[in-house]
Amino acid sequence: MPATVIVGAQWGDEGKGKIVDLLARDSDLVCRYQGGPNAGHTIVVDGETYKFRHMPSGILWGKECVLGAGCVIDPDVFIEELDDAEARGLSTERVRISGNAHVIMPWHVAIDGASERRLGRLQIGTTRRGIGPAYSDKASRLGIRVQDLFDAKILRQKIEVALDEKNLWLERIYGAEPLDLDDVAGRAERWAPRLRDHIADTSLLVHEALRDGQAVLFEGAQGTLLDLDHGTYPFVTSSSPVAAAAATGIGIGPNRIDEVVGVAKAYVTRVGEGPFPTEIEGPDQERVRELGGEYGTVTGRTRRCGWLDLVGLRYAARLNGFTAVALTKLDVLSAFERIPVCTRYRLPDGTETREFPAHQSDFHHAEPVYEVVDGWQAELGDCVAADELPDAARRYVDFVERELEVPVTWVGTGREREQALAR
Ligand code: IMP
Repeated sequence: MPATVIVGAQWGDEGKGKIVDLLARDSDLVCRYQGGPNAGHTIVVDGETYKFRHMPSGILWGKECVLGAGCVIDPDVFIEELDDAEARGLSTERVRISGNAHVIMPWHVAIDGASERRLGRLQIGTTRRGIGPAYSDKASRLGIRVQDLFDAKILRQKIEVALDEKNLWLERIYGAEPLDLDDVAGRAERWAPRLRDHIADTSLLVHEALRDGQAVLFEGAQGTLLDLDHGTYPFVTSSSPVAAAAATGIGIGPNRIDEVVGVAKAYVTRVGEGPFPTEIEGPDQERVRELGGEYGTVTGRTRRCGWLDLVGLRYAARLNGFTAVALTKLDVLSAFERIPVCTRYRLPDGTETREFPAHQSDFHHAEPVYEVVDGWQAELGDCVAADELPDAARRYVDFVERELEVPVTWVGTGREREQALAR
């Protein structure tokens, strides 16, 4: 699998880090192509937990790691991760960032928080890491790129011009504290020396790796339904997690991608606001949350929990072109005697559909139609091969595979690295 994209099939937090970790062992390069520190990847190795926000999970195998042009970088967070990784004995020498990636500046973080506060009950529920404001400035051609950090004089001028406007917004529109030019410029000047050795022409680097037959993994952040173009807008992130964005975010042709692995939980979670047809009503929601440890890596927020939604997953298979699916956290469902799976939506006009509604009002009012399947009510943690799974668990996976018409090639049965069973 020379070039493989790993992409979240739901609303993020599907356990992509673990699948990337699994495939990274046999890869040469692991790349992120979009998003920023709104992502949170948790990987458990030998009982030790690693949480990354910027860093591709490939760092754990000592692989060359790339943050492409499509990413937005918060240098404070990134530098802290570099320091932390080094303190834990991981080598960061082969971590590369594109000079074309945009920088999340302090005003982006301030505006993200202030704008959410101002929206009140209409808020999006962002991670408040400055993602939306940074991508907005990029699209408005006002952004500061990583390469700009290396010329202190021009950088200060850019910050001054930006703050002239951003402080007006902060003070007059949002009633927030303005930012001080010297503070911000001083902070930004300290980033360059720490980042300098990590800057590279990442498009060229990935191109050369592919040309030389190396195995490259592209690690999507967030998930398909949070995609700016195709997700549940406006309750989405400000970048494109879908597989095709790996090509634009890194700077390679779309025909270079060979495989697309969709990662889906055996149920669904969502953080932040927005419609969620299969959200569980009643005490089972809390049960799934507790069993699955469904609390955000980045914000610590409670994740909303729902039953598996095959309408959403079919849509994700279409948008990304999945060649395989990894179904994670199957063990979380072990406690349930009967498990509802949504196969269709009932629309406001009474019709039923297997396809994801193209119009937001239909989606907002869609009622899930469930098939209830037997649970297995047995621990899965000790299974070391997929054929050791209890019959009912195997039937659950087969059912998903049939409905999606995509092979489910991995099943997640626990937190540890080896608890991902190949089928
Ligand atoms: P933003 O990306 O911080 O602007 O947040 C926009 C929406 O995406 C919110 O609903 C967030 O909760 C959600 N979101 C962003 N990153 C992640 C993630 O890594 N996992 C799950 N949800 C996320």
